[in-house]
Amino acid sequence: MGYCSHPRLFALLVLVAVVVSASSRDLPIISFDEGYNKLFGDDNLMILKDGKSVHLLLNERTGSGFVSQDLYIHGFFSASVKLPTDYTAGVVVAFYMSNADMFPKNHDEIDFEFLGHIRGKEWRVQTNVYGNGSTNTGREERYNLWFDPSEDYHQYSILWTDSQIIFYVDNIPIRVVKRSENMGGDFPSKPMSLYATIWDGSDWATNGGKYRVNYKYAPFLAEFSDLVLHGCAVDPIEQISKKCDKTQGSEYIPTGVTRVQKMKMEGFRKKQMTYSYCYDRIRYKVAPPECVINPQEAERLRVFDPVTFGQGHRRQRKHHHRSSSRASVAEATSV
Ligand SMILES: *[C@@H]1O[C@H](CO)[C@@H](O)[C@H](O)[C@H]1NC(C)=O
Repeated sequence: MGYCSHPRLFALLVLVAVVVSASSRDLPIISFDEGYNKLFGDDNLMILKDGKSVHLLLNERTGSGFVSQDLYIHGFFSASVKLPTDYTAGVVVAFYMSNADMFPKNHDEIDFEFLGHIRGKEWRVQTNVYGNGSTNTGREERYNLWFDPSEDYHQYSILWTDSQIIFYVDNIPIRVVKRSENMGGDFPSKPMSLYATIWDGSDWATNGGKYRVNYKYAPFLAEFSDLVLHGCAVDPIEQISKKCDKTQGSEYIPTGVTRVQKMKMEGFRKKQMTYSYCYDRIRYKVAPPECVINPQEAERLRVFDPVTFGQGHRRQRKHHHRSSSRASVAEATSV
């Protein structure tokens, strides 16, 4: 039996495929050189011939990563990503915004983090938000995905406005963080750069560090494509002069969640969310003020192993970033 023995179903599938690919193709995609710089990893970062796709490798020597040339205040940021295949425990692939370099004490951050994969287990993705140095209040959520993200490219996007942050997977919103009075300065509000990295997160990534990177399976390859930087670029010094991107294709940039999307989001969260900081009473005796507690959700999340976040989480990650950029500086100067 073929997949599509029914001609009308086949026609419908073709139509859906055309619509889906059209919408991601029409996003304002720029080449790597136009929008990004290498961050670390030397040869482990490879720009493909089309100038728009990037391969990031992790091996025994180093991970790799890139960063946007500009800082942005608000916008829509997106990438199609194909994650490393096979055994990837401890391997972290991150797609995120941050200004930790400029504001080490009170930085902002918006994260997508892929936390590695053990054979036979589901993939995990984590989202998180920090504002004005609120690193003592992690706002992590974790989810399973409804597909194998190493099998094909999928689109991961961040919409950041003055009033909300929306995380998307394949155009389905999976999380909305609304700016609320009681969150105070914890909502990201200063210009940030966009980053994509792959690195060794053995100490915390997969089940809280239970499964480390096994370099027998290296190199680990994360493929990035369809990179979208669609926001208001600001001058890093003045930070006032905004240069907002009004290029063609901006009609494909979402401005909020539609009613249909909201239903999809609720379905996703009911089925795929495995952790929310709002229900972690080991970390927070009292849930952070923006949390709206839903007893059914609390009950549902109780069955999942609430891998606690040790002190090591932030430290390890900071250490990683520092050590890798230092390593690349050392390598560059030794040449
Ligand atoms: C951010 O934190 C600093 C102290 O580190 C504080 O002075 C400032 O008011 C905070 N900003 C907001 C928007 O809360």
